[in-house]
Amino acid sequence: MDWGMANRMAQLFKNGRCMFMPIDHGYFQGPTRKLECPAETVAPLMDYAEALFVTRGVLRSCIDPMTSKPVVLRVSGGPSVIGPDLADEGLTTAIEDVIRINASAMGLSIFVGTQYEKQSILNLAKLVNEGEKYGIPVMAVTAVGKELEKRDARYLALCCRIAAEMGARVVKTYWCENFEKVIQGCPVPVIMAGGPKVADRGVLEFVHDGMSKGAVGVNLGRNIWQHDYPVPMMRSLRAIIHENASVDEAWEMFNNLKNECV
Ligand code: 5RP
Repeated sequence: MDWGMANRMAQLFKNGRCMFMPIDHGYFQGPTRKLECPAETVAPLMDYAEALFVTRGVLRSCIDPMTSKPVVLRVSGGPSVIGPDLADEGLTTAIEDVIRINASAMGLSIFVGTQYEKQSILNLAKLVNEGEKYGIPVMAVTAVGKELEKRDARYLALCCRIAAEMGARVVKTYWCENFEKVIQGCPVPVIMAGGPKVADRGVLEFVHDGMSKGAVGVNLGRNIWQHDYPVPMMRSLRAIIHENASVDEAWEMFNNLKNECV
């Protein structure tokens, strides 16, 4: 790995683990609840994230360029949530803009098993070609569009392996039962995505399970910033990721921090 690539990867991880904060949802969902004003939502959470996952538009208009927080730039898009097919994505951001923004990594979705799988996988390959020229890692996102039922270990292992084979340096995927099968088949670090909001302990439980099976961290959005107590939730998840806290320890920490807020 050349120096620039290694240095950018090092910016994204602390002792090999990471907690990314995604605020990219608007690129297909519009003004998602609690992200109507991204600057306000992320302000109290920034200190607890290793990196922000964001589009160039929200970055430029809502995030202070004086920040030292690393940026994973979302560079795929096209369809909206009301359009015919969420999987019909293309590349949205020129590599010159990625470099100008000083991004630490680029993120793009692939849609395996959809009619657009080839297009999205070739998007990934092209992005890796550009990224490798300039030492910028690519994080592939294994997206499922609206078809959440596809999230089993066999399917996600297939998606993650394809992403790694195309040259993604990091893969973001959903947690699932038998998550070790996903990890075992993927030769690059795997980060867990969140998905729609689940009950508090449920988030702690799946993150703990995924970490114990070899994930290197999370890219969790709505389960944190749509929570009534986002900072306690983020800090207790952080304890699982960075301090090997058990679910019970993290839950106790959450409740203690929550009580300090009321
Ligand atoms: C959207 C994304 C998001 O970054 C990802 O879904 C994580 O956010 P959440 O935890 O809210 O699902 O890639 O396509």
